[in-house]
Amino acid sequence: MALVTTKEMFKKAYEGHYAIGAFNVNNMEIVQGITEAANELRSPVILQVSKGARAYANHTYLVKLVEAAIHETDIPIALHLDHGPDFETCKSCIDGGFTSVMIDFSSHPYEENIKETKRVVEYAHAHGVVVEAELGTLAGVEDEVKVEEGMSSYTRPEEVQDFAERTGCDSLAIAIGTSHGAYKFKPGTKPQLRFDILEEVSKRLPGFPIVLHGASSVPQEFVKLINQYGGAMPDAIGVPEEMLAQAAKMAVCKINIDSDIRLAMTASIRQYLTEHPADFDPRQYLKPARQAVKDMVHHKIVDVLGSNDKA
Ligand code: G3H
Ligand code: 13P
Ligand code: ZN
Repeated sequence: MALVTTKEMFKKAYEGHYAIGAFNVNNMEIVQGITEAANELRSPVILQVSKGARAYANHTYLVKLVEAAIHETDIPIALHLDHGPDFETCKSCIDGGFTSVMIDFSSHPYEENIKETKRVVEYAHAHGVVVEAELGTLAGVEDEVKVEEGMSSYTRPEEVQDFAERTGCDSLAIAIGTSHGAYKFKPGTKPQLRFDILEEVSKRLPGFPIVLHGASSVPQEFVKLINQYGGAMPDAIGVPEEMLAQAAKMAVCKINIDSDIRLAMTASIRQYLTEHPADFDPRQYLKPARQAVKDMVHHKIVDVLGSNDKA
């Protein structure tokens, strides 16, 4: 199947009360693990590439890996720029084969966010590409931007209608208490999301696809394995999966997952190398790591997103 935009995916997801997984890709094993799971489950999927991923793997390598995945599967796949920092990066991805871009000006003043988002939307739409924008700021680290705890801010529902109308964006990422990375909530505290904000946003933007960033659940089995096999991760707490499943049934059509991929791969590689100290063939430890990504994505699609059999 060809590369698609997220337009049709989101329309069906909104009406069907499920969400599409947006998984970050950085190398071949990650692309394979995600798309093999999605293909077996007949699930649409979004493969997203950050500025850091483009710097690490090179734009062309990533596009060609995604093209290979399209050749090998029979499901709708969208190729999305994650956290585009400016117009130029978005333009480069639009010109370079992406079907969706995010312009993330959420840390800039409101009017600047509108101006830059509108500029990207005009260029993207003229080229058949859709645009995700963001209002509100998440805590945590994304690319080299670190938002300190306490400096994050929830999305203000009273702004969303004006923002969507004036920018023409196709989907909107909102801040309701999720954050990037593996350390989302303080150990000993109860994770909480502001579902009231999500509800208020969707009342003001009926039928409009909402995006949740920072949505890794940080499975404790991965953290335990990492620490059992020589790692030293402090207590790491993610977003409870039942909350994500609840958001998927509401207006949230796209759920972003990156940290869980990193944890799955790292746990598997640490375990393999500890148990096979004499091995030095990367294929030996990347094969189970790829399988770990596949198993994790399989679980997300079936038990959290509900996007299986929707291709
Ligand atoms: O939100 C950020 C994503 O997890 C991408 O992370 O910038 O380290 O590739 P990265
Ligand atoms: P996590 O760090 O929770 O996986 O979030 C990823 C993300 O939002 C990518 O944009
Ligand atoms: Zn993000």
